[in-house]
Amino acid sequence: MANPSLLILAGDGIGPEVMDEVKRVISWFGDKRDLAFDVSEDLVGGAAYDAHGVPLHDDTMAKAQAVDAVLLGAVGGPKYDDLDFSVKPERGLLRLRKEMDLFANLRPAQCFDALADFSSLKKDIVAGLDIMIVRELTSGVYFGEPRGIHMEDNMRVGVNTQRYTEAEIERAARAAFELARKRSNKLCSMEKANVMESGILWRDVVNEVHQADYADVELSHMYADNGAMQLVRAPKQFDVILTDNLFGDILSDCAAMLTGSLGMLPSASLGLPMANGRPKAMYEPVHGSAPDITGQAKANPIACILSFAMALRYSFDEGAEADRLEAAIEKVLADGARTADLMGPEGGTPLSTTQMGDVILEALEALL
Ligand code: IPM
Ligand code: MG
Repeated sequence: MANPSLLILAGDGIGPEVMDEVKRVISWFGDKRDLAFDVSEDLVGGAAYDAHGVPLHDDTMAKAQAVDAVLLGAVGGPKYDDLDFSVKPERGLLRLRKEMDLFANLRPAQCFDALADFSSLKKDIVAGLDIMIVRELTSGVYFGEPRGIHMEDNMRVGVNTQRYTEAEIERAARAAFELARKRSNKLCSMEKANVMESGILWRDVVNEVHQADYADVELSHMYADNGAMQLVRAPKQFDVILTDNLFGDILSDCAAMLTGSLGMLPSASLGLPMANGRPKAMYEPVHGSAPDITGQAKANPIACILSFAMALRYSFDEGAEADRLEAAIEKVLADGARTADLMGPEGGTPLSTTQMGDVILEALEALL
């Protein structure tokens, strides 16, 4: 049988630096665990714009549709700030999400014991935190029409449209209910049903799906603003959170910071099953391209490596190998391995991106 295929789109800024460490991890699984992947690489974001004048070439889009999973680094940077909106680096990422129809974005926020002190919240509020945000990723105000900037009464008007169909809400809800069943069987859905019709529909559809097929799951609803407040007040009350594209963007950054560093958080974006049964999938760290530290060997590769662990789990049904990789990362953190983003007030010398990769590979060896 052919090896499963991966397309690496390292992108901009620290994307290529952290992805270099992921490539070493991928090779390790091929050499030591008999889990070889056919890896190809291409450009996305500003890197693609520089080469082709577009943030995602049609050939790259076609490759992404054909592989078993895409691994993405990060897109964007100040160099591209003045580009026309239609060719901004972010458009490349949004095109991948939309055309691959990756509607379920899984963003775990897990606080590693060794890092509980790095959170901006008190240690006892975040220690042991393990929540999962399911963000709808292909609709809502990110894609709704009409949109644009036009003139009205000699004034510019900016328009975006929050739009959700029942079907879009339903499939995101099903993904979240399924995940809840695999975790602690608890789901909290967040919207603004108090001010938005799309929020009223969201709540109705989630209730209908619940009653029809998931009555065993404990379901609650919360307005998204209260949700943001509860996330910083008492985050451990949550297990799986379901929310729309825009609220999910904001709430997931908020949840991420609870864990101490954005450099730690992976994500999976999943779509419908392909002919081989695997879901359409893209895996990427939650952090951005971090232009301020690009090229300085300071970036933390863990979020990107943990995204590959999610690929092992969700695309390749290799949960035990994903556990192994996560255990190796937990071990190096417990042993005090720290990149610059994880340096406490006591200081010390941080590991470089590559050195963090080194110790993770050593820990993987030691776990054999
Ligand atoms: C994210 C990012 C993206 C988003 C940007 C880069 C378009 O913030 O994945 O959370 O807004 O979805
Ligand atoms: Mg975001």
